[in-house]
Amino acid sequence: MTLEQFNTKKPLVKGRTSVSAEVYGLFNKKGQFVPKVYPKSQDIEHALLNKLNESFMFRALESSEQKIVIDAMQEVRVEKGQVIINQGDDGDVLYFVFQGSLDCYKLFPGQSAPTNLLTYTPGMSFGELALLYNTPRAASIKANEASVLYSLDRECFNNIVKESAIRRREKYDSFLSEVELLQELEPYERSKLCDCLVSHTYAPGSYIIKEGESGDTFYFIESGKAYATKKNASGQQETVYEYENNDYFGELALLKDIPR
Ligand code: CMP
Repeated sequence: MTLEQFNTKKPLVKGRTSVSAEVYGLFNKKGQFVPKVYPKSQDIEHALLNKLNESFMFRALESSEQKIVIDAMQEVRVEKGQVIINQGDDGDVLYFVFQGSLDCYKLFPGQSAPTNLLTYTPGMSFGELALLYNTPRAASIKANEASVLYSLDRECFNNIVKESAIRRREKYDSFLSEVELLQELEPYERSKLCDCLVSHTYAPGSYIIKEGESGDTFYFIESGKAYATKKNASGQQETVYEYENNDYFGELALLKDIPR
């Protein structure tokens, strides 16, 4: 597929907005941000909240902030084959996928055709880079089927989500770039991984993983030390590995689908 095939653009966001007095009051104290409110049914609000809670960038928000984000989201229905984002364009909204599926393509320097990078499905979001870093769209997004998206405007994103997302990506990016296992990742893949990291603190002597448990988490050591112990032939716990900053563990249960 070539880039020209992406040039069937349609205005995507339209409709009326209103302003909630309650949040207006709240935010007017902080500055001049007046969040938009696009009224929705309770069912849709509930479904959006569930989807937001699957999204790493948004589930860290306070529930009052999630409510502001949900109110400010605007439904966008797209047809099969429609281009939602065109690489190189300016962008001022981010999209959540509510229903359907969309492909992400990127034309890399020196290539004549874009590369298909990933498929977006419900619960995923795209279009955040232009808002986070004020850059042109870094890839193109095209609908594989009729899909329902919710757009979030730049102003709401900047006021509610941006700072914590940037802080988080900056905080973990330098850390993850030191991890040997992740050296092959593209910067964008690493930044998405930053969105997924959750920091936990463990008291000295406490267990993070127990031998024999089933596991679905992979751990990096941000700071501190940990020990891996294993029962030896005589039933005694024996230290088999010591971990410190930037080390990782817990990958075997995930890679091989076996108990810890
Ligand atoms: P944005 O640049 O605003 O618009 C295109 C979107 O594609 C981008 O934000 C990301 O959300 C998404 N995307 C997915 N994979 C990549 C990638 N490898 N590089 C850049 N953008 C990507």
